[in-house]
Amino acid sequence: MTSRKSLPLCGIGLFLVIALALIVLKAPPDGLERGQLSQFLGRFHPLVVHLPIALVLLVAALECAGFFRNGKHLQASASFVLTLAAVTALMAVFLGWLLARSGGYEGRLVTRHMWGGVSLAAALILCCAVRESNAKLYGTALFATVCLMAWTSDQGGKLTHGEGFLTEFMPAKLRAVLGVPPPEKKHTPTSSAVGISPVSAGMVSVTFFASRVAPIFHDKCVQCHGPQKKKGKLRLDTFENVMRGGKDGVIVKPGDPSGSEVFRRITLPRDDKDAMPAEGKPGPTEAEIKVIELWIALGASQSLAAEEVRGAPPLAPPMTASPPLTADYRPRSDKIQALQSELGVRLVPRSQNPTDGLILRTVSARERCDDAALVKLAPVASLIVDAELASTKVTDGGLKTLSTFSNLRSLDLSHTAITSVGVRLLSRLDKLETLNLTATGVDDTGVALLRHKVRLKRLYLFETKCTVQSELQTEKQKR
Ligand code: HEC
Repeated sequence: MTSRKSLPLCGIGLFLVIALALIVLKAPPDGLERGQLSQFLGRFHPLVVHLPIALVLLVAALECAGFFRNGKHLQASASFVLTLAAVTALMAVFLGWLLARSGGYEGRLVTRHMWGGVSLAAALILCCAVRESNAKLYGTALFATVCLMAWTSDQGGKLTHGEGFLTEFMPAKLRAVLGVPPPEKKHTPTSSAVGISPVSAGMVSVTFFASRVAPIFHDKCVQCHGPQKKKGKLRLDTFENVMRGGKDGVIVKPGDPSGSEVFRRITLPRDDKDAMPAEGKPGPTEAEIKVIELWIALGASQSLAAEEVRGAPPLAPPMTASPPLTADYRPRSDKIQALQSELGVRLVPRSQNPTDGLILRTVSARERCDDAALVKLAPVASLIVDAELASTKVTDGGLKTLSTFSNLRSLDLSHTAITSVGVRLLSRLDKLETLNLTATGVDDTGVALLRHKVRLKRLYLFETKCTVQSELQTEKQKR
């Protein structure tokens, strides 16, 4: 393509960019929703937008290939790819404008992203225009275009995934080097930012709105009614915005839940077209609806303290990680290794979590596993949560040692020579949940004490002299 041939094309491109810029200026995204067809087309923007991104990078790669003697033929196609990049960029901008304009977008990020796109299209047309005539200007322009594209894509990414998406899981060290601020804490009901009202001198109290109502709006509504999207001209991200209302006026009438639009919308049948959240997004739970009702009934106050509200559904208990079963076994790895080779037993981690304890496996060394072996295991006893001692040489003497393995949850002593004398000692094991005494010398006197252990869920007494066998087993298994 010679410069003279490409100039008319560039003229058309320039005309289109100016036209687009005028449209975008005249009709910026305003948070309103319109036209189904334009929304339908607009939603192709995220798909089409990848074309200019890939093509611009390809142009840069082809031009770089031209620096090498055997890459010249590649460079020859750069001009064609550049034209394609400009055309697809124009398409992406137009579709993006449709999406923003019709899909209820507004705000700083959309505006930046949009003008980034318009500038990018313009820059690409400039590149087309100067490529043949001015190599230096072209090189600079192309470099600037690639940078502009990276920035524009980043704005778009933030728009769809949220501002901290790329950096949320950045390692703290890298964060410090790059000067990226620490990630924002996820919204928690007690966070002071959402509003703590002073109740009396020196005392602070969490408000009902901040701790109970705002989290519901944040979870279920703000993705459509917030700073990025403002469907129905309504924002639910702050108290002031909630009270300001939307395109049809106020949505909260203090003291009158059933007369409040917000309450009506969330209590409509889910298939009603006015029901909120829209688009079948997960709606508020019954408890959450109750909270909003109560808040409006009590005057829709911003400052009412949470503790002054009676009858609110209890907060779901916070999710806590399950407590560690034992200490971390890793510091004892050497000892564990030594015991394994000495005794022929295996001490295997119960899970990937190093505080979930070890399982004692003896299948490979049943003959060698006797009372003396258990004594040798004592240094790591507190790490063992599961001991598989079936068919080993363990006797009542060994049970005395076992009764000090205080973290045992599961113990299999089936087919061993133990009797009630030893088993009685096991009632000291407070965490025991499963005990297998199948085919041992145990009788009723041995299990009498075990019967009262609350934690014990499964007790196997097949092939023993126990007469309470069936009763105990069913009774225990019911729990
Ligand atoms: C998936 C997007 C989406 C979600 C999530 C969503 N809304 Fe909406 N909302 C809309 C749209 C679109 C409109 C405008 C159309 C209409 O009025 O039905 C709207 C309108 C409203 C209006 C009417 C505003 C006015 O003045 O006309 C209220 C009230 C409302 N939403 C409340 C809520 C509440 C409360 C939640 C959370 C429980 C919620 N919305 C979640 C999309 C959503």
